[in-house]
Amino acid sequence: MLGSALLLLASVGTGLAQSLTLDDLYLENAPTSPRPYVIPHYANSHAVTIGSQLYRFTVTGPSSDYAFTLMSTNSPSSSALGVLPHIHEKHYENFFSFKGRFQLWAQKDDDEQQARLLTQGDYGSVSRNTTHTFQILDPDTEMVGVIVPGGFEDLFYYLGTNYTSGTDTPYVPQDSNSSSSSSTPSASVMATLETFDVYAQTDFEPRYDVVNGTAPTDSTWHTGSNELGSPGDPYFVANGYGPKYLSSKYGYQVIQPLVTSKQAQDTNYTLSTISLSRQTKNSPPSYTLSGAAAFEVLEGVLSITIGDYPLATLNMGDVAFIPAGTEFTYYSTVAFTKVLYVSSGSDGVDARLIKGGKSWDFVTFPKY
Ligand SMILES: *[C@@H]1O[C@H](CO)[C@@H](O)[C@H](O)[C@H]1NC(C)=O
Ligand SMILES: *[C@@H]1O[C@H](CO)[C@@H](O)[C@H](O)[C@H]1NC(C)=O
Ligand SMILES: *[C@@H]1O[C@H](CO)[C@@H](O)[C@H](O)[C@H]1NC(C)=O
Ligand SMILES: *[C@@H]1O[C@H](CO)[C@@H](O)[C@H](O)[C@H]1NC(C)=O
Ligand SMILES: *[C@@H]1O[C@H](CO)[C@@H](O)[C@H](O)[C@H]1NC(C)=O
Repeated sequence: MLGSALLLLASVGTGLAQSLTLDDLYLENAPTSPRPYVIPHYANSHAVTIGSQLYRFTVTGPSSDYAFTLMSTNSPSSSALGVLPHIHEKHYENFFSFKGRFQLWAQKDDDEQQARLLTQGDYGSVSRNTTHTFQILDPDTEMVGVIVPGGFEDLFYYLGTNYTSGTDTPYVPQDSNSSSSSSTPSASVMATLETFDVYAQTDFEPRYDVVNGTAPTDSTWHTGSNELGSPGDPYFVANGYGPKYLSSKYGYQVIQPLVTSKQAQDTNYTLSTISLSRQTKNSPPSYTLSGAAAFEVLEGVLSITIGDYPLATLNMGDVAFIPAGTEFTYYSTVAFTKVLYVSSGSDGVDARLIKGGKSWDFVTFPKY
């Protein structure tokens, strides 16, 4: 009896590496515990609607052991705020414009209120205890969110209506007058959400004196370089205007950090974009990190091998999740691939490439 059970275990053990397929790697929903997976763009992944906004959660608290949540919001343009102004005491929230246009407001304590218009590739950092809100401004907009620690999606599960689709449409087209299109939870609902780490800030009045994408108007926005902020302060990085580093470890990689361990401090994570040159020669370096990590493809095609799964080829918007302690390699076989990369801890691929690379002034890599 025991002998045959052991034999069975042994055969499962040795058979595993051969038997894992891409079908095993690709999921429709982020799983209930950490494991390697890929979720294609627009797959349902725990999707809910709140009014006309459609939220998807490609990395969740349970799927990352509460390291971080990775989510996206697709929505038509709106004449109203997407959510009433609020703060989080425990969660650090990152807003990234995948496509389209939205406005983001942030204010820390008595500092001047900041507003920015975010277009594709722009980023806004909303650290804890920062009052913030947003408004979607273009019909084909996708906002990507990274929230640390993971598990914040519970708020959206609570507020939202489960969504299913046969077409994976980015969001559900509907008459803007239909009764369900009101996106924002009411002030009375907002006031009940403190168990989800949402503290309504009813006195906050969003400023609308934005000129050239920014208020105050003397801020640098799409006109010059943006520094990453001091720990705890909100800040904004326009696409291509933040700090940049060049790595030539394997092909070229241009790393643009958005959050380093300095900004995240006790939230303990890093966030960057990485732009890869084509690389088909030699074998790519492998990484095994002490924290969970994820890639979301912004442009091009990402080739990635995670653990014992076969090579996966990710297209724009696809997400790959790598659990802590799992070996992985990645590279590009097309001329230019850009990813959003998030990593738990301070020693992710982005931090390592920056350490081994050099300061660089350009969003592109050299011609040879
Ligand atoms: C909504 O989906 C979640 C899983 O994401 C499930 O647990 C829950 O029961 C669903 N709710 C309804 C009303 O179907
Ligand atoms: C956020 O504010 C709460 C309440 O004032 C405070 O207890 C907490 O320490 C603050 N967190 C941070 C990171 O400043
Ligand atoms: C929506 O409602 C407004 C105000 O009642 C009306 O003027 C408009 O024609 C309606 N739009 C549609 C598409 O029904
Ligand atoms: C807005 O941008 C235009 C074009 O670059 C410039 O001439 C103008 O001074 C800017 N306005 C402000 C308030 O900065
Ligand atoms: C930061 O995160 C890494 C990876 O998840 C973990 O190994 C480390 O213990 C964490 N450090 C702190 C101070 O929480």
